[in-house]
This record gives sequence, structure tokens and C-alpha cells, in this order.
Amino acid sequence: MSLTVNQLQFPALPYDYAALEPHIDAMTMEIHHSRHHKAYFDNLKAAVKDSPMGDHTLPELFANISKHPVAVRNHGGGHFNHDLFWNVMSPNGGGKPEGILADAIVKSFGSFEQFQELFNNAAKTRFGSGWAWLCVKADKSLAVCSTANQDNPLMDIADCAGTPILNLDVWEHAYYLKYQNKRPDYVSAFWNVINWDQVSKNYQAAL
Ligand SMILES: [Fe+2]
Repeated sequence: MSLTVNQLQFPALPYDYAALEPHIDAMTMEIHHSRHHKAYFDNLKAAVKDSPMGDHTLPELFANISKHPVAVRNHGGGHFNHDLFWNVMSPNGGGKPEGILADAIVKSFGSFEQFQELFNNAAKTRFGSGWAWLCVKADKSLAVCSTANQDNPLMDIADCAGTPILNLDVWEHAYYLKYQNKRPDYVSAFWNVINWDQVSKNYQAAL
């Protein structure tokens, strides 16, 4: 994520569209990645064209997003959030975190199960479209929160501030084909595909 916006290229998924079946279906993954994410990416590139914004990284732009055009907020967030999301999932995912991330979760939330409950509630109760997050705060503790639309906790306008290490897309486009209105079933299924190795790497990079 240290590339400038001008240097960014649209990322391939790190696995096949069908790899997360049965938890997330192939058609949802294909439409989500190749159409929704691609549109955010293309619109981000268009929004920074011929502007000095293109010479900055997305985290740099997010830190002052209130001063930038809303298209950069929506499509920059749309690209960054999906890029993180694809990488925190894996066909070999699920289970529980280990090592210092596991210790940090217990320290911040009491137990893994209490963290799960907080994260599930954040994902289920986000009204309309948005994201649930696990973040590292400035004091190095962990926090769970949610944001609307394509906002994220790196943005100066977000209700929760921190470095995101795990996220869950709760826009209907992320689950409607398989789960229809049953967002809680999609949120439950997500735990079977979380790539804790990657989340641990994200945690250590954030410290
Ligand atoms: Fe999405």
C-alpha cells in the first residue's frame, strides 16, 4: 500500500472465484471483483487524473480526505477496502489467530469469543452499506467498529480511527445472490474464510 495512486494497478484475486465456496459463491466473487471493485479502481484513477493527488498514496489522501473531492473518498475507499478484503480471506482460512495477535485480541476484548461478538454486531448493525473493521489504534490496542459506504478508519472523517487489519464488506453486493436479506448468515460464514496468517502480518505491520 506504499504505492502512489498513479502507480497502482488493478490487483488480481489471490485465489479463484470459486475458491471460497460454499461460504461465498463464485458468481458473487466474480461480479464483486471484476465489476464492483474494478469500477471503484477505474473511477479512482479518473478522479486523480491530471491532479497532484495521483502522486500520493491512498493512506496519505485518506488522512486529509475531508479536503479532497468526494469521488476520491468514495472510489479511493472502494479500491483500498476491497484490496484489503480479498487478502484477509483464503480458501484455507478459518480457525483462530495465533501468537501475538491472539494475545492482543484477548488483551483488548477479554476473549476471542467476545471479539467475535463485537465484530458480528458491528457487521450486522451497520445500517445500509458499509464495512466492519478490526483496527490497531494509536495506543497499539485493538478496536472493532463499522463505517458507512466506502469510508474506512484511515479517513479523517471516520467515526473510528486506526489502522485496519481485518474488514468485512456488508454491502448487499457482497452477499445478496447467495444470502438475499440474511446478512447475519453471511457474517457467520465469513469466519470460515478469514486468513489469520495475513491478518497477523497486517497487525505486525501496523505496530
Ligand atoms: Fe464490495
